[in-house]
Amino acid sequence: MRILAVDIGGSGVKVMIIDGKGKQLSERARVPTPQPATPQSVINSIKQLAAKQAKFDRVAVGFPGVVRKGVTETAHNLDKSWIGFPLEKELSQALGKPVRAANDADVQGLAVVGGRGVELVLTLGTGLGSALFVDGKLVPNLEVAHHPFRKSRTYEECLGAQALEKSGKKKWNRSLQRAFAELHHLFNYDRLWIGGGNGERVKLKLPPRVKIVPNVAGLLGGAALWKE
Ligand code: BGC
Repeated sequence: MRILAVDIGGSGVKVMIIDGKGKQLSERARVPTPQPATPQSVINSIKQLAAKQAKFDRVAVGFPGVVRKGVTETAHNLDKSWIGFPLEKELSQALGKPVRAANDADVQGLAVVGGRGVELVLTLGTGLGSALFVDGKLVPNLEVAHHPFRKSRTYEECLGAQALEKSGKKKWNRSLQRAFAELHHLFNYDRLWIGGGNGERVKLKLPPRVKIVPNVAGLLGGAALWKE
């Protein structure tokens, strides 16, 4: 099985070929997310990236919003025309291969969870991704990002890339520490996995239950979408 893994992000669109077990088979390629990030322009970027990759027979996509039955339902950091867009169908037509799509944090989580107990995944990128797993099974559609966090601001408003840029690393790290504690009160997680491009900006002494994982998991997890 050769899968074209795609990670659609607020700042970059990334692709890589992986096998059915999530092993990397090609170098990662990336282009900046087109602006405005409409479905058509993003699909064109994926097409261009795919044309430069070796052969693949199916496609797995991580999308930065809620995805239900192949249709994108929310898109906080992309163009609003993604709301209600049949991503699996349209991308499959554009690439001539079957496509499966899921939320980007879910895909990241599928690559990293250990499969025991309550595992929460947070991804730190343009937006704040979240995924919850119970004994390795995904609890669908968990969205921490737009939930109130502090001083009438949401988790994403305090921990997303814009907040990092605006308030600086120190304050952002402090907010992150508070979020770990707050989310522990809520989920009593056994493990909290931190991924996303800004994972490397975390400069905290991490509590024992919290682990940072490389962002490439956002592509490697695509293999799990093709496990029957
Ligand atoms: C979206 C999530 C997504 C996250 C990371 C948030 O704004 O609501 O669905 O996982 O950004 O891309």
